Amino acid sequence: MRKITILAIETSCDETGVAVLQKEGDTVTVLADAVTSQADIHALTGGVVPDVAAREHTKVIGPLLQEVQCESEIKNIESGIDGIAVTVGPGLMPALAVGVQAARTLAYAWNKPIIPVHHIEGHIYSALLGSDGEFSIFNFQYSNNLFPALALIVSGGHTMLILIKGHLKYEVIGQTRDDAAGEAFDKVARLLQLPYPGGPNLSKLAEDGDRSAFAFPRPMIHSDDFDFSFSGLKTAVLYTLRDQDPSSPPLGRGERTTFPPDKGDGGGFSANVAASFEQAVVDVLITKTQRAIEKYQPRLLLLAGGVAANKPLRQQLQAMADEVETKLQIAPLNLCGDNAVMIGQVGLLAYENGRIRNWKDVDATARIPIESFSL
Ligand code: KG4
Ligand code: ZN
Repeated sequence: MRKITILAIETSCDETGVAVLQKEGDTVTVLADAVTSQADIHALTGGVVPDVAAREHTKVIGPLLQEVQCESEIKNIESGIDGIAVTVGPGLMPALAVGVQAARTLAYAWNKPIIPVHHIEGHIYSALLGSDGEFSIFNFQYSNNLFPALALIVSGGHTMLILIKGHLKYEVIGQTRDDAAGEAFDKVARLLQLPYPGGPNLSKLAEDGDRSAFAFPRPMIHSDDFDFSFSGLKTAVLYTLRDQDPSSPPLGRGERTTFPPDKGDGGGFSANVAASFEQAVVDVLITKTQRAIEKYQPRLLLLAGGVAANKPLRQQLQAMADEVETKLQIAPLNLCGDNAVMIGQVGLLAYENGRIRNWKDVDATARIPIESFSL
């Protein structure tokens, strides 16, 4: 049986990922996977500075390529791979450009094709292909009769509901009109003076809070479409914090509130704010997803993206899926954040479907719709 082997590269935001995947028949094996996060560096500024991200990608991409070359045990990577899959967008332009340029250079030097991959496709496939509990082996076998599938993608840059009509066939049915869910988590975490990355830290604080302590708004929960909006929710949190501490000056761009997270109540107030905010986000995501299930009747529901690591979201989405009797697949925890394995998963399928480009025809694009990658 013919084997296909792909080198995959991801640099769209603040994680550098390089992986080697191989497909033989229906089985995909991750031969090597390396990810480096820049979280510690961006913690110093409280968020990702695109040029700093690009500089860090530039530093680590060579060593990561070397690492996967060793780990994959392919004697000669140049002759051992069929193509190079790379995230071409969407993302931070200077960051994307590092991965795309690395892929172009290798493709030129090794005379290999490039398989351009949309970042959100990667997140979709991290859940679609599932895993058998083992990190390294994915099975395509059962995934052919699962369409249409509906994907809820929640990351730092995107909140989307996407209908997947077949492999590599996408239709966006809803998305955020302002902040993404992860962005809202990160901004509210900053208001609560929690360190970067905000989402996981806010969720940790929320574990000790009362989820109904504050009746924060659920923006667009009843709107007649599948779009989202989270910026009003963030503002509602800001006003709640101000009411608690009116001496806080108005917040400018990039400024922090002077609100002390612990008002002498053992952190109970901020934990309650965190828990109530988290529940508002989860309620909106679940209600809209349920309505999309009712309308599109998918055979499979998928949850992926950085915020898919959120425990209450995973648990409550599972409960909803059980109630409406829809099978749910959630991306494995180690593939929720950005990584190159998910890019390689798409790369293998896209390669088989003829999405093959000459290095000269591949460029990074900060904003690009997923539909333009659809079969
Ligand atoms: O997919 P991802 O790694 O990067 C983008 O493509 O944007 O997602 C990162 C986002 C960040 O906003 C981060 O705060 C959020 O995912 N996140 C979480 C959790 N873990 C990561 N948000 C809420 N709860 C979590 N446990
Ligand atoms: Zn992502």
